[in-house]
Amino acid sequence: MAAPVTLLRTQVGIVGGGPAGLMLGHLLHLHRIDSVILERRPEDHVVERVRAGVLEQGTVDLLASTGAGDRLQREGMRHGGIYVAFEQARHRIDMAGLTGGRVITIYGQNEVVRDLIDARRASGAPLRFEVSDLTLHDVDSDRPNIRFVEQGQEFALACDWIAGCDGFHGPCRTAIPAAKLRTFERIYPFAWLGILAEAAPTSEELVYSLHERGFALFSMRSPAITRLYLQVPPDEDVAAWPDERIWSELQIRLRTSDGWRPKEGAIVQKGITGMRSFVAEPMRFGRLFLAGDAAHIVPPTGAKGLNLAMADVARLARGFERFYGDGQTDLLDTYSERGLRRVWRAQRFSWWMTSMLHRIPGDAPFDHRRQIAELDYLVSSSAAMTSLSENYTGIPFE
Ligand code: FAD
Ligand code: PHB
Repeated sequence: MAAPVTLLRTQVGIVGGGPAGLMLGHLLHLHRIDSVILERRPEDHVVERVRAGVLEQGTVDLLASTGAGDRLQREGMRHGGIYVAFEQARHRIDMAGLTGGRVITIYGQNEVVRDLIDARRASGAPLRFEVSDLTLHDVDSDRPNIRFVEQGQEFALACDWIAGCDGFHGPCRTAIPAAKLRTFERIYPFAWLGILAEAAPTSEELVYSLHERGFALFSMRSPAITRLYLQVPPDEDVAAWPDERIWSELQIRLRTSDGWRPKEGAIVQKGITGMRSFVAEPMRFGRLFLAGDAAHIVPPTGAKGLNLAMADVARLARGFERFYGDGQTDLLDTYSERGLRRVWRAQRFSWWMTSMLHRIPGDAPFDHRRQIAELDYLVSSSAAMTSLSENYTGIPFE
């Protein structure tokens, strides 16, 4: 006889324990709304995944206002500007000066995840790792539920609402009938090879560089760790990039004629990420809401992915707060429409940064000259630099 299914109940079932799911769970706990977070991967995998590093002020404020920002305040690196480099020269864009003081903070996504897991543990609310075979049921009824398996045991979680925070490849978006969803997509003909190196950063701020051989980005994680990226072909095998080749290419693409160059050190992490723009509309079906990468993907050039995920769950949490506070669904009903405005603005900005800074295979020499002219205009026009700065530092959360 098959083992019986264990029945569980919660107010909001959260699929995915990445930044979106963990932040949503934290916000709901602070508003005394029950949630269960279900995550497919083991805890160490979720914490150690190296991804984004740039936090907008809205994300920093959200973490601070919910009591999960202490370490971020201590260890985060606040930057008032970025450099754009081309033709062997670096040009600083004074983002703080151009936006009335808005800054970004460098703090790894894995540190954000670590802090949010600690907050969840402190709250005692459920966070279940290594769940498998997760499926959604009756999402267009008022009794949606999630089925999953944990340690060989089958569970059915009855929910009032489900939050799909399960990233681009998760099961939530695909649980929505195709006829109810419109998707928009662009896949770019290149990828990023990213490394973490044990080397002190040689620039206090990020350097985005367009070189004839392709894009390169200089970033960092701490006073001892540099984070660097190179544009590579989309189907590139990481094995084609031994450490010496990576350093040689980084030096060629990044060094400037004033003698600036990245310092080299032991490479402690290496990975290749494809580049895509994607939006699913609307971000809701029945009692299922999509948040973060489950609903939209941006190429990382604008550093917007994690920040969009945080803006989504802040908005969604306010919708749930209103519903459980006074029974109104107005904020949940407008969750998608209000979010998509921010999403499309970030899509436009990320696409623009990406197109300006990468070599597109097959482009004519005309296109490279046009890119240089665009960068030259950018760094010599305070209107153009202000536009970049407003978008890069991010519009305030609602
Ligand atoms: P995710 O972080 O993807 O979290 C979703 C979670 O859902 C995961 O933990 C996943 O294991 C879980 N899940 C999936 N399926 C299931 C299931 N069936 N059951 C239960 N759980 C499930 N952004 C930048 O700004 N800069 C960068 O450099 C950058 N680099 C990136 C590199 C990579 C390889 C990727 C994939 C993304 C990168 N991003 C970057 C984007 C940024 O990291 C994301 O926007 C951010 O992680 C979004 O958070 P999320 O919680 O919505 O999704
Ligand atoms: C990073 O530090 O990982 C980073 C910084 C800026 C980006 C993307 C990634 O645009």
